[in-house]
Amino acid sequence: MPVLDAAKVVAALRGAFAREESRGELLQIAADKIRAAGPPYTSVYLYMLHGEQLILEAFAGRETDHTSIPVGVGVCGTAVASGRDQNVPDVRAVENYLACNAWTRSELVVLIRRGVTILGQIDIDSDLPDPFTAEEESAVKQVADALAVLL
Ligand code: SME
Repeated sequence: MPVLDAAKVVAALRGAFAREESRGELLQIAADKIRAAGPPYTSVYLYMLHGEQLILEAFAGRETDHTSIPVGVGVCGTAVASGRDQNVPDVRAVENYLACNAWTRSELVVLIRRGVTILGQIDIDSDLPDPFTAEEESAVKQVADALAVLL
């Protein structure tokens, strides 16, 4: 079983949508609920695509200086440029990694897609090395897919 209970997070998002909560609230709920799963989820960032920039619209966990990331830059920008989710077991091995702090060991970026359009991404930092199994990744993807419909 993955650490993240995706069904629980998706249910919370659907509830917020039904209460007509704002886009910002939905993104914040996603960040808070994913982080609440605990380790390996250390910090969760919701970057949304505005033209050629990823803009940080919600986060839970450690603050970051990277509130705006150009497409193609870092792990986050590479996900958008390549159209592929990024599962980085050891951030120290990645040349174009944008470091936010000294403790992060691994990172998972899952794109939020509506059809062929990339809306943004869920970016997760972990203090643990190589923690994101295929099951874990698919749990995060369920949340991303729910956001794509509800935002
Ligand atoms: N590490 C990311 C930058 C975002 S922070 O982790 C919040 C990257 O390399 O794109």
